[in-house]
Amino acid sequence: MLSIDGLDVRYGTTHAVRGICLEVADGEAVALLGPNGAGKTSTLRAISRLVPSTGSVVFDGQDLAKVPAENVARLGLIHVPEGRHVFGDLTVHENLQIGTTARRGRRSEFGFDEVYDLFPALVPLRGRLGFALSGGEQQMVAIGRALVAAPRLLLIDEPSLGLAPIVADAVASALVEVRSRTALLVIEQNVHLAVRVCQRAAVLSGGVVVLEAPAAQLHDRGELLASYLGQSRTGTGA
Ligand SMILES: Nc1ncnc2c1ncn2[C@@H]1O[C@H](COP(=O)(O)OP(=O)(O)OP(=O)(O)O)[C@@H](O)[C@H]1O
Ligand SMILES: [Mg+2]
Repeated sequence: MLSIDGLDVRYGTTHAVRGICLEVADGEAVALLGPNGAGKTSTLRAISRLVPSTGSVVFDGQDLAKVPAENVARLGLIHVPEGRHVFGDLTVHENLQIGTTARRGRRSEFGFDEVYDLFPALVPLRGRLGFALSGGEQQMVAIGRALVAAPRLLLIDEPSLGLAPIVADAVASALVEVRSRTALLVIEQNVHLAVRVCQRAAVLSGGVVVLEAPAAQLHDRGELLASYLGQSRTGTGA
C-alpha cells in the first residue's frame, strides 16, 4: 500500500532523514519509534508532501512526487499532525465535519456515528468549542476528523503525547478498533502503546532505520530498544 525507498529530507544543513526504506502493507499497522529529533515527523511530513524530499514514495501504485500536496488526502492518505490542530472557534461536531471535505466521493468506513461510538467521551461535548477541550479530547477530535475523511492509510504523529495514561489508553483502544478498518503508520514514543496498536515497528535514530521487528518481539529486544530510545522512554514495563 505504501512503499518508501531512499527517502531523504534536508532542512538547510540539517540532514533529517537519510535514505530510509519502509513499507506498510494493506491493512497493516506500523509504529515508527525513535528519540527526539530522529526524523519521525519529517518522515511523515515527507510522505504527505508537506516538506520537500527526494527518494520515492509510492501509495497504492501512485508515485506521490507527481501528486500535488493538496491532492494527497483525496487519495485516502490522511495525516493527523503533531499538535492536533483542532479549530478552537469551531465546535467538536463542526471540526469533525471538516474531515468530510477530503472524502471526495470515496466511501468512508467511519461516519459521525462511528466516531462518537469510538470516542464516547465526545458525545456530551458535541457542541463544545475546540479551545475549551482538554488535550485528550482534542486528540480524539483530530483522529475522528481524519476517520470521516475515508482514510485508506492513516498517518498519526504521537497520539499519546502529553496525555494522562488513562486518556492515552482510551486513544490506544480506539486505534485498535480503527486498525481493523484502515492501515496505520503511527509515530509513538510510548512503546507499550505502540506494541498494543501495531503489528510491526521500525525504530528511527539519526534519520536512519536502525531496527525493524514485529511488535511482539520488541519486549524481547528491550535492551537494544532502550539503547536507542533511552530507558525512560521504553515504557515496556507498563
Ligand atoms: N522545519 C525545520 N527546519 C529546520 N530543521 C528542522 C525542521 N523540522 C525538523 N528539523 C530538524 O530535523 C531533525 C528531525 O526532526 P523531526 O521533527 O523530524 O524529528 P522527530 O523524530 O519527529 O522528533 P520529536 O520526537 O522531537 O518530535 C531535527 O534535528 C530537527 O531539529
Ligand atoms: Mg516529531
